[in-house]
Amino acid sequence: MHDLLGAQMEAWTRVEQTVRTLFSLAGYREIRTPVLEHAEVFTQAVGDDTDIVEKQMYRVESDEKEKLVLRPEETAAFVRAVIEHQLHRSNQTQRFFYYLPMFRHERPQKGRLRQFYQFGAELILDPTPEADAEIVWLLDHLLKTLKITEYGIRINSLGCQDCRPKYKLALESFFKPHLESLCEQCQKRFARSPLRILDCKKEACRALAVQAPKTGDYLDDACHEHHAQLKKQLSALGISFQDDPHIVRGLDYYCRTAFEFTSDLLGAQSALAGGGRYDPLATRFGEKAFPAVGFGLGMERIILVLEQKGLLEGSPPEPFYYFAALGEAAFDLLYRVSFALKQEKIAVEMSYDREKGLKALLKLADRSGCAYTVVVGDNELAQSSIIVKDMKARTQSTLSLPHLTPESLTQELSRRASSSAT
Ligand code: HAM
Repeated sequence: MHDLLGAQMEAWTRVEQTVRTLFSLAGYREIRTPVLEHAEVFTQAVGDDTDIVEKQMYRVESDEKEKLVLRPEETAAFVRAVIEHQLHRSNQTQRFFYYLPMFRHERPQKGRLRQFYQFGAELILDPTPEADAEIVWLLDHLLKTLKITEYGIRINSLGCQDCRPKYKLALESFFKPHLESLCEQCQKRFARSPLRILDCKKEACRALAVQAPKTGDYLDDACHEHHAQLKKQLSALGISFQDDPHIVRGLDYYCRTAFEFTSDLLGAQSALAGGGRYDPLATRFGEKAFPAVGFGLGMERIILVLEQKGLLEGSPPEPFYYFAALGEAAFDLLYRVSFALKQEKIAVEMSYDREKGLKALLKLADRSGCAYTVVVGDNELAQSSIIVKDMKARTQSTLSLPHLTPESLTQELSRRASSSAT
């Protein structure tokens, strides 16, 4: 779990702002669910035998009997919220996005944290392959807008409840004679979810997986047509992708489309984002299925890629004015004016240390990166004037005002700031 500060934090904020704007332009509305959920939300919806549920959930202790967990992912919590607010009863397509922290008790390594942030998009009530293509396009568009192009897109169809059982049987008969050569974990997977063996990174399992039956050969006509149309639309949108039968995803709720965006710039944890269609997820909450497709994109992984590309520069916010007050009366004047200007959205910085002399104050002004330093001392007060130093041009001028009051000074400095902005 990381503290975020300084240039890192500024880079995060920039990415957040860009992504929020894009989501909003694409018609996605923000949704925010609580950090804590009932454990069943994930045990039922994500699948009891997935790594996330089996090993990675943080359980919260409390005096109550309820079993609460920190959310390890958002899609199940999102569907819980959709059902709770009856959003699935609408007869119109609906689009949502989120930007939330997730918690998984994983072994930490580069790009893999225990608290990490995800951007996600979920599009519901549209069963068409065009909705799937929109989700993939949105993710692609978002990364390109962030100037990230070094990734590959791999897509697959996992079939549906009708055709997947046949595929599962085919996989079982293929792996059964080779059980001993599979890793320990895949031997367990064989009994519960043979599809996930296809996703194993171990050499021996991968060698076998390459020869295993392919989902594409087991899809029924409707799933086949859906996948073909998705590929057609992605090509028409100019998106390059690879059809990869090994994309099965580590979560149980997908049907038909599953996809991953991976980048070599990330090292071992190469997944930038992943997602797919999850129409039957609602049935795990005892509701009727409704069409749904979405993605999750790891914020830390975006930042890692930007860092690799040298795009993470960030500097502290710079004030427009730095106020240097010499003496009590000047201090009171500039102190008041500083807040009046901030109310007008003009950035002002001022030292509250009354002991500092002109030299020290000018040093601070220089370090602040301000555009102008305003100096007021007893002399200036007596002559109803101020000194304005242009920090870039390294020039200084004395400005006389008919009356040196907080109001007249605010007005004058505000006028100067807006004329310099135009
Ligand atoms: P996921 O593949 O588990 O999918 O996570 C999505 C992304 O979150 C990953 O591609 C990765 O960038 C990031 N991520 C996952 N685990 C970590 C970690 N420990 N540290 C840092 N980043 C991580 C989901 O969570 C699905 N809910 C996505 C989805 C939305 N499917 C449909 N809608």
